[in-house]
Amino acid sequence: MTQKPAIQTKMKGILLAGGSGTRLYPMTLAASKQLLPVYDKPMVYYPLSTLMLAGIRDIMIISTPADLPQFKRLLGDGSQFGVTFEYRAQPSPDGIPQAFLIAEDWLDNCPCALALGDNLIFADHLSAALQTAAIRPTGATVFAYQVRDPERYGVVSFDETGRALSIVEKPKEPVSNWAVTGLYFYDNRVLDFAKRVKPSTRGELEITDLNRFYLEEGSLHVDRLGRGCAWLDAGIPDSLMEAGQFVHTIQARQGMLVGSPAEVAYRLGFIDADQLRAHAARMGKTELGRLLMQVANTVQPTG
Ligand code: G1P
Repeated sequence: MTQKPAIQTKMKGILLAGGSGTRLYPMTLAASKQLLPVYDKPMVYYPLSTLMLAGIRDIMIISTPADLPQFKRLLGDGSQFGVTFEYRAQPSPDGIPQAFLIAEDWLDNCPCALALGDNLIFADHLSAALQTAAIRPTGATVFAYQVRDPERYGVVSFDETGRALSIVEKPKEPVSNWAVTGLYFYDNRVLDFAKRVKPSTRGELEITDLNRFYLEEGSLHVDRLGRGCAWLDAGIPDSLMEAGQFVHTIQARQGMLVGSPAEVAYRLGFIDADQLRAHAARMGKTELGRLLMQVANTVQPTG
């Protein structure tokens, strides 16, 4: 019997895995960027695990019309992970907030989280931070991380009390080195705000403009990820390789899985030990399969 999950949230989740991945050519000429391997798993497994760790079980996967069938083949209806997947195409990559417009009817006035398919977050106590964000009744939550090259990202600045002051997309002269990661939690007004976002000078709807609506009304929570965290994006060959090496290092050294939706599903009580064993068996003689089997046999779910 699957146990009652410990976390219950009405929040839905969108996994945005579109784009053409031009910075990874030729690898992405015939394959979706978010399906490329990050060590021993497809990239999309990592942000998917993050959404599930927040307790979210209704998840829409948005990708290009050409790539969507591959995502369906990989992930199915979600039952293997005790969740429900819905699939939608993004005909042209017109910006991140477009995801909410594509999902309008499915959202059904629910709060919603959004994860970018190429963002990997790894942190101790991450699940508590995510679950807090997922049950927050109003406002939005984003996560900020200090980087050397903030001009590549949305950048947030803070006043001396730690309150967010400004948020700017790819500023030429960043006023802080806090980048906003590709993981966002919104209350049920997100669709209305998304409809108010106008295309930027690069012709896209910017997620930073959506976040600014929340900032201006004083309801944007910015959770700063500290030293013990890793936030990796896998958008260029170097970062793709570094992300793979990072996952390998943790898994090889500690024997702990990173970015496994099946493990998260079991730990949170979305699936039971037999379901996890069946999933592990499907992984054949891989080290991933062995580690999943070990979890099923030795770990008590928290649900
Ligand atoms: C997008 C967002 C940016 C955010 C980044 C995280 O950038 O626009 O605010 O910091 O994702 O990965 P893009 O991937 O469009 O360059």
